[in-house]
Amino acid sequence: MEEKLDLSLPCCQHLLSAILAMEPSDCLVSLARACGGGSITDQVQQFIWDHFLSVPGDFHAPYLRNFLKKLITQVEFDRGCVLDHLYELYAHYMTSSKDDCLGKRDARICKRISFLFPDDCSELQSCSLSRVLEFSLQCSLNMLEGDTGCSIWPSSLFLSELILSHPELFSHKSCFEIGSGVGLVGLCLAHVKASKVILSDGDLSTLVNMKFNLELNHLNVEADLPLRNKDPSMVKCLYLPWESASESELQDIMPDVVLGADVIYDPVCLPHLVRVLAILLNQMNFCRQRASCDGPSSNIEHENGEHDHIDAIEIADGRCKVIYNDSSKCLRKEAPVAYIACVIRNIETFSCFLSLGEQANLHFVDLTDSLKPVNLLCYMQSYNQASVRLLRITFIN
Ligand SMILES: C[S@@+](CC[C@H](N)C(=O)[O-])C[C@H]1O[C@@H](n2cnc3c(N)ncnc32)[C@H](O)[C@@H]1O
Repeated sequence: MEEKLDLSLPCCQHLLSAILAMEPSDCLVSLARACGGGSITDQVQQFIWDHFLSVPGDFHAPYLRNFLKKLITQVEFDRGCVLDHLYELYAHYMTSSKDDCLGKRDARICKRISFLFPDDCSELQSCSLSRVLEFSLQCSLNMLEGDTGCSIWPSSLFLSELILSHPELFSHKSCFEIGSGVGLVGLCLAHVKASKVILSDGDLSTLVNMKFNLELNHLNVEADLPLRNKDPSMVKCLYLPWESASESELQDIMPDVVLGADVIYDPVCLPHLVRVLAILLNQMNFCRQRASCDGPSSNIEHENGEHDHIDAIEIADGRCKVIYNDSSKCLRKEAPVAYIACVIRNIETFSCFLSLGEQANLHFVDLTDSLKPVNLLCYMQSYNQASVRLLRITFIN
């Protein structure tokens, strides 16, 4: 009797993570081959059986059925031997799942996204006790459902990897995301201990799904306004269509970091998106206006009722810093910065975004080659980190 495959082997972990993330069957088959050194051996089939097929739980039956079909076809193609219980299970699916939700394009599924920290990244694991960080996310099979916000797009995988690879950019900072979709970026921000996490979307069904996902991953979701946020595990979800977001509503958010993943795709929305970014990133101007209206010793009131006393406003290198005193210690608050990740699907739309941004005093730096995240999703063959561009955006005063 051959020994069982060990789950701690990287190839087995990749296969396990890929099935949980509901990767396409072709990807699973290629990972299964890698586990068997090129072919889907009895041991590999038994591993798949032990870990998924014998305990399907609430797994999406049509997904398992398709995977099983592909797996059996490949083993037969290789003139290998298919384990009897795999045939039996496939026959069971064929006879019992005629009325399943395969045909329902808007059916909900639950993907489990695992971030796998390499052994040599011990400093990254300081936020995480184990080498694997896993989030469950309810998504739609229909990519267009919820104005595209009920699917996981590549740029949010990229931003998640960025947050987990460079926690210092986000930890202890107030982070605000636009077009948050399923909420994965927010889960990573909470994991690295952002001081505040506010997610937003302009689609109500997406917002409902996002809140569901935050609760599924044991985060407390704060009710709507006012923005009072004392509990660090509390994430706030805002309904925020860019077209109707008011200047004062945006100024109230006062984030240190703005994030956006795959939000540059609809030319009609671009002027509104740029306006939202310009207001969010120009908070120093807002502070300065407040300071000059209120006189030299002015205060900023936070949503938690506390006041920061502004001592000075410095502008250097095109960046603005407010130096303020929270009465116990001096703080130096840097101008807010945005990290926008995107896959360029239409170069004209992307160029239009840049040109509208420049007209609105936004300054763009392409960080794609200089700030690469660690590849924490190496098992996810459907996701190509290199397809995502990363922009750093600031407001020029
Ligand atoms: C392609 S999805 C990306 C979702 C998520 N950020 C991700 O990468 O997985 C675009 C998101 O932007 C939101 N969105 C699109 N237009 C918007 C608008 N005008 N105002 C606010 N949100 C908008 C959509 O509802 C959707 O959640």
